Formats: sequence, C-alpha cells, structure tokens
Amino acid sequence: MDRFSEVARFREVAPGQPLLVAEISADYPEKPLVLDRVSFTIRSAEILGLIGQSGSGKSTIALAVPRLLELRGGRIRGTIQFCGRDLMACDARALRQVRGREIGLVPQSPMSALNPALRIETHLREAWRAHRAESWKFAKEPTRDLLIRMGLPADDAFLRRIPRQLSVGQAQRVVIAMAVMHRPKLLIADEATSALDPVSQQEILALFRKLNRELQMAILYVSHDLASVARLCHTVGILEAGRLIQCGPAAQLLAGAAAPAGRLPEVPLARFA
Ligand SMILES: Nc1ncnc2c1ncn2[C@@H]1O[C@H](COP(=O)(O)OP(=O)(O)O)[C@@H](O)[C@H]1O
Ligand SMILES: [Mg+2]
Repeated sequence: MDRFSEVARFREVAPGQPLLVAEISADYPEKPLVLDRVSFTIRSAEILGLIGQSGSGKSTIALAVPRLLELRGGRIRGTIQFCGRDLMACDARALRQVRGREIGLVPQSPMSALNPALRIETHLREAWRAHRAESWKFAKEPTRDLLIRMGLPADDAFLRRIPRQLSVGQAQRVVIAMAVMHRPKLLIADEATSALDPVSQQEILALFRKLNRELQMAILYVSHDLASVARLCHTVGILEAGRLIQCGPAAQLLAGAAAPAGRLPEVPLARFA
C-alpha cells in the first residue's frame, strides 16, 4: 500500500472528456502579464501542441500548470481545473502529489534537468521514492522495463553512469522516463525534441505517440518547431506575446504548414473549448 494512500488519486477521466481546463495569467516581478488570460482545454488522451516564438510564454505555461511557476519567482492568476479539481486551490502537499504522479513534466533542456553529480540510478530511485513507499529493490525490474520502453540500455553499467556520460538524446529519454514512471494522466513536454538531432527527434516523437496510444496519456507538447507539432499533435494552440491567438484541430490549423518558411496559414477556427 502506498504511503500516500490517504491522498486520493485524482479521478479518472474518460477518453475525450476534459482533463485540464485552464485560464491562466502570469507575471514575473520585473515583467507583468507574460501570459494574458491564456485559455485552453486538454482532453483525456489528447495531444495538444503549443507553438510560439521564443519568449512568447510557452515555458511559463508549462511551469504554471503544475504550479511550479511560483517556485521560480512567477505569479499566476486564473483557474487550472485538472480532473475536476482546481489546482489553484490545492495546498503544497496536494500539489506535491500531483506533480510526478498525476502530471509529469519534462522541463526544457534535458541536461539541466539532471543533477550532474548523481548516477542515473539515483535519479530514477528519487523519482520512484517521491510517490512510492516500497523499497527500491522492488522497483528495479519495472524500472528496467521502463528504460527498455524508452529505448535506453537497462544494464548496471548504464545505471551507474552520470549525466555527462550520456548523449543528449539519452539524457532526454532518462528525463522522460522519470516523468512517466508513475503513469501520469498528463505529460507536459517543454521543447523535448528541440535539442536533438533529426533521428533522435523522430524516435522521441514515436515514443510520445506510443505513450499516448498505449497508456492513454494526454500530452501538452510545447515547441517552437512547427514540423514536430504537425507530426505529433491532435490539437494546436498558437501563442504570441502571452496570448493564445488560435487554437484548434491540428489538421485544420496546420494545413499547408509545410509551405515555405513554415508560415502559419490564416485559418478561421472552431474554438476549442
Ligand atoms: N524568471 C523570469 N523573470 C522575468 N522574466 C522572465 C522569467 N522567465 C521568463 N521571463 C520572460 O517571460 C517571457 C516568456 O518566457 P518563456 O515562458 O520562457 O517563453 P518561451 O518558453 O516561449 O521562450 C519572456 O519575455 C521572458 O524573458
Ligand atoms: Mg521555453
């Protein structure tokens, strides 16, 4: 039985039903209104792509949803309804339960998400212990399975490595493994393929597709790369200077996105509510 059994898991949401309904404004101390009433919905098992230029507020959204922005000096207002509960009203303890268990986060730049001094096994063990009381030795087999699913070596030599002994692609997979270890209902991936070579990029996109299909995991895929968003996402939101200027089905929004310079077509949108 897990140590946190008194804290109920968030209720299951049937595929296609709203999992996350958010309307978020955000400020940093020196920079007000970095997000201006950004409003979007992610349905269970849906992949929502969030695209926008550098500085448009994508990472701010990725951090705001699991309420991590405050820990980094930002301030948010609005509502973040997740599985029918408002995360804005949750206390610190409830939020610790949400992060890593209900919502997994792959932060921007994989290398900085890992502690350079710690072995890969230590990273995985800490991610396990955050939500499970069983001894790590019981987790070793499932963790090896997880690494194999992530396309990583699962032998002891790999587990003993430290981050700088990994390729960027491997580091990214380790960070994703940590984020999905507890099978969150929602995975937030911030520029998860941006630092990778094209082959690794394709492999990570295939991995996200597999997580989505096999585990019905919803994904908020944040990227400035139109091509990867077009390949992966069901729905797309376009962020510009802290405002969501368009949001709708990917097929409709990105029709012709492969046009020269990846310019976004002006398409009237059925608003995604
Ligand atoms: N900690 C911070 N303090 C002040 N301003 C910040 C901070 N983090 C980000 N910003 C600013 O907020 C805006 C949005 O940043 P960010 O969410 O990182 O954009 P993106 O991920 O789309 O590149 C940018 O103008 C950025 O300079
Ligand atoms: Mg960013």
